[in-house]
Parts: sequence; structure tokens; C-alpha cells
Amino acid sequence: MGSGKGGVGKTTVSVNLAIALARMGRRVGLLDADVYGPNVPLMMGANQTPRGHADRIIPLEGHGVKLMSMGFLNPGDKPLVWRGPMLHNVIQQFLRNVEWGELDYLLIDLPPGTGDVALSLIQTAAISGAVVVTTPSDVSLEDARKAVNMFAQVRVPVLGLVENMSYLIAPGSGERIDVFGQGGGKRTAEQMGVPFLGELALNPQVRIGGDSGAPVATRGEADANAAPFFELAKRLEQACAGTPSAAPTITIED
Ligand SMILES: Nc1ncnc2c1ncn2[C@@H]1O[C@H](COP(=O)(O)OP(=O)(O)OP(=O)(O)O)[C@@H](O)[C@H]1O
Ligand SMILES: [Mg+2]
Repeated sequence: MGSGKGGVGKTTVSVNLAIALARMGRRVGLLDADVYGPNVPLMMGANQTPRGHADRIIPLEGHGVKLMSMGFLNPGDKPLVWRGPMLHNVIQQFLRNVEWGELDYLLIDLPPGTGDVALSLIQTAAISGAVVVTTPSDVSLEDARKAVNMFAQVRVPVLGLVENMSYLIAPGSGERIDVFGQGGGKRTAEQMGVPFLGELALNPQVRIGGDSGAPVATRGEADANAAPFFELAKRLEQACAGTPSAAPTITIED
């Protein structure tokens, strides 16, 4: 999952999609490729050090999803500074040396901004497709267009655009408030010729789930806060059905 802009909800979408797919019975891995500011450990409530033998690393498991993150290897607040070749190396190791086992899906949560990590991934593994996350705001949509173009340039199919933080439901009245404007994600998807995978509301429960290590999707499909992520997971599965790989590797970009 990717974007261009930070803070639009790539990691939130990644963790909830991964959990939803796992609860639908799929074998799912989630690779936190944000080596600069890994947030998957906090959001998945996982913080052990992965075990390893020889040059193999056993991924952790949380909410039914296999997990790997730089945050497991470098816990704490100290950021890591990577030079280009080191970055490429660590991305390669995450894909090649981690014992993911048989998976139906490997989701990859990308860092915001430049395509460095995306390019390393593309050079290391066959990426089945990319999901671009945006908010309805013009600045975010502009970045989403750049992300779509970036993937087109490196021939990674864009499985679709997700519009996050699309609207707010006013407590009490139930009125829909379009905080950042309306319909921008869908329009942009149409203009760019990529599928529109849907809108996700700005929902405090989604934020609380992430902050507490139990993303809303863990509540199951019957829960109103979780349901949109299960719908998204189903649409993503349909979008993947057209890709050649048997075990789709999906990057989440904003
Ligand atoms: N639909 C939503 N409703 C409420 N809060 C949300 C929603 N999506 C994301 N958030 C919150 O917004 C913040 C940023 O989300 P997140 O970390 O997923 O973004 P990101 O795109 O991965 O950011 P970065 O680019 O820094 O990696 C988090 O606190 C998250 O809980
Ligand atoms: Mg993130």
C-alpha cells in the first residue's frame, strides 16, 4: 500500500485488510517496509524479537497474520538512517530471508514519500499489484496521481485506489460531513483509469483500534466499524483474481 503523502492511512488500511483477509480464512503475511518509521508493531500489538536460525528469520504472528517489521529488530525511538544500498539490502532480506511459508497474500506497507523502497521491492520480487491510499483532499489526490504514475512506470498493476477519511458521521444527528470535499478519490481513479476500491469513513474507533494494538477488523465482519474493511478485502480479492501470480504480493502506497 502506498501513497506519496504521509499520514493518509496506509498502515491503518494495511493492518485492517490483513486481519480481514486472515479472518476470511486466507493465509496472510504483512511486511512493514517502512524501515524509517515502522508503525505495524504498535498497530498489531506485536513487540517481541523474532527468532532466527542461520540466516533465516521466523516472522512474528499477530491477529492471525504473519508479521515482519524493522520495529522488531530496532525497538525504541531511535530512528535508523539508511543509505541506498543498505536500504536495498534490508528490503531484500525481508523478502528472501524471512520464512513466510505458504501465503495467499503478502501485503507490504510502504513508507510515505519517495519510491526508494518501492523500487527495491520491485527489483527483488514480482509484485502482483499496488493499492494506492488517498484522502479526498487535493494535495493528497495529487500525490496519489504521482503514485499511480510511478507504479505504471515500473509496470506494477495498480489494483485500485482507496479513499480514506472520506467523511465523518456526526455523533447524534448521523449527518455525513465531507471534511475534505466529496468524490475526489472516485473522480481521480476514473481519470487515471484505475479501479476505485471504495471509501472509508473517518472513524475514531479505527484510530483507537490502531493505537491499542487491536485494529477494528479484529472485531469481525458483523461489527459496523469493521465491516468496511471486510468489504474492501473482498473487492481487493476480486481485483487480484485478474493478476497472474498465485500468491499475490500487494504493496500499499499512498
Ligand atoms: N479512517 C480513519 N479513521 C480515523 N483515524 C484514522 C483513519 N485512518 C487512519 N487514521 C489515523 O490516522 C493516523 C495516520 O494513519 P496511518 O499511520 O495509518 O497513516 P500512514 O499513511 O501509514 O502514515 P505514514 O505515511 O506516516 O506511514 C493514525 O493515528 C491512524 O489511527
Ligand atoms: Mg505508515
